[in-house]
Amino acid sequence: MVKICCIGAGYVGGPTMAMIALKCPDIQVVVVDISKPRIAAWNSPDLPIYEPGLDEVVKACRDKNLFFSTDVEKHVAEADIVFVSVNTPTKTRGLGAGKAADLTYWESAARMIADVSKSDKIVVEKSTVPVKTAEAIEKILTHNNDKGINFQILSNPEFLAEGTAIEDLAKPDRVLIGGRETPGGRKAVEALKAVYAHWVPEDRILTTNLWSAELSKLAANAFLAQRISSINAMSALCESTGANVSEVAYAVGKDSRIGPKFLNASVGFGGSCFQKDILNLVYICECNGLPEVAHYWKQVVQINDYQKTRFVKRVVSSMFNTVSGKKIAILGFAFKKDTGDTRETPAIDVCHGLLGDKALLSIYDPQVTEDQMKRDLAMNKFDWDHPQHLQPQSPTAFKQVSVVWDAYEATKDAHAVCIITEWDEFKKLDYQRIYDNMQKPAFIFDGRNVLDVESLRKIGFVVYSIGKPLDPWVKDLQVSI
Ligand code: NAD
Ligand code: UDX
Repeated sequence: MVKICCIGAGYVGGPTMAMIALKCPDIQVVVVDISKPRIAAWNSPDLPIYEPGLDEVVKACRDKNLFFSTDVEKHVAEADIVFVSVNTPTKTRGLGAGKAADLTYWESAARMIADVSKSDKIVVEKSTVPVKTAEAIEKILTHNNDKGINFQILSNPEFLAEGTAIEDLAKPDRVLIGGRETPGGRKAVEALKAVYAHWVPEDRILTTNLWSAELSKLAANAFLAQRISSINAMSALCESTGANVSEVAYAVGKDSRIGPKFLNASVGFGGSCFQKDILNLVYICECNGLPEVAHYWKQVVQINDYQKTRFVKRVVSSMFNTVSGKKIAILGFAFKKDTGDTRETPAIDVCHGLLGDKALLSIYDPQVTEDQMKRDLAMNKFDWDHPQHLQPQSPTAFKQVSVVWDAYEATKDAHAVCIITEWDEFKKLDYQRIYDNMQKPAFIFDGRNVLDVESLRKIGFVVYSIGKPLDPWVKDLQVSI
């Protein structure tokens, strides 16, 4: 029986390995992590991450051919294939701070693999890493290798999106495997291909050289984020001209060369990947003497920051240029629906902006805990190239924040409602009831374009929806945005 060990039991390692275990009963899969609470949660009825369909997959194979353990070294030593799915965040200090990927966790995992291995291994880069990382990893693995062990490095980046991870893993658009163009490299590629071939059609398993696979992951995320920044840039122009961004996106997306997906204007993209991976790409371009290319991609992140700032300005300027002492309901804190993940969520920046103007925030999200929200709001972001609204908050800011477990409670006596995450339940709320319990004029700022603007206006709300023709009220009160 082939044994797979995955280092890192996070949003990628957990679901990815659970799917491999489900589809490959002949393979033993062990997911290891240095975090004891995380492993304990994976072994409990309450999994550490919320992901539709994940519970069923884990419960179908846990303790059969899927195991979660903190005994990292033992399972790495025994494995034939070692996936490395540790976090690769943006560096906050030193060379490349605010842009480069921090490979500290990756390097320590690689050193540990080198130390404990007693048999040949295929080491798979699952984490998103800078192009050419495999070369560095190879050096770490083969340095001091007096045991004669053969290590083959593969790049097998993950393309799942949170909220749809199980669907994405079960029916991937493609699986990408990059390896060395040597007999040993080709054999390793075939071995990993055989794992995925248990359920992925062969024509969807792409094989490339190592550097193409590493770079394709950064490129795919950059292209996806670029579409969002493109439609968000258009949303600003729509608001100035009276065009409707949903109609524009539909018309543009009907062109089969462009396609309809990823054209939803929003308060800005969030998540642990897009910003981090683009900044990493920018840094790689700079290091390779390509400042124009670096500048091009940096704009995608800058438009995203602009969009978040623009949203806050709309809220404040519509409400007579002050939100000081006013209760504002924040509906949604996760970076997208169907996840409890808040990494880089636009909610953090919007809340910072409103807190900076002394608003009183009442926040509701069906999947994010109060502790998590407060940790996020207190967090120090790296200070590279970020607008002033991202300054760290003092603990006194928390006096301005309350977290509630019901949208009606959040909106009671509020002056305004901001929709930050597109949770389905926000579409089904009783907005007449919400309006009746709010201060007047009652404002709604829809950062996700999920509400029916006309019916809200009929109730009496002043409504702002990203990229939609402006409410006369909002239009009249705008400072320049
Ligand atoms: P995560 O932070 O959820 O999980 C990483 C885990 O690795 C943590 O639990 C951490 O404790 C563990 N870890 C770190 N160093 C370790 C070590 N030396 N030994 C054992 N465990 C260690 O991160 P994630 O969201 O799963 O992302 C992992 C990688 O996958 C990143 O490179 C990310 O860019 C990439 N990725 C993420 C997504 C996503 O949707 N989250 C999608 C595609 C790719
Ligand atoms: C992304 C990539 O989609 C995935 O392939 C990669 O493996 C990891 O990064 P993820 O960040 O989990 O996945 O979610 P995604 O669906 O891409 O959404 C990212 C952000 O963009 C969210 O904040 C989402 O709300 C926003 N978004 C997405 C928009 O604002 N408009 C859109 O049209 C699509």
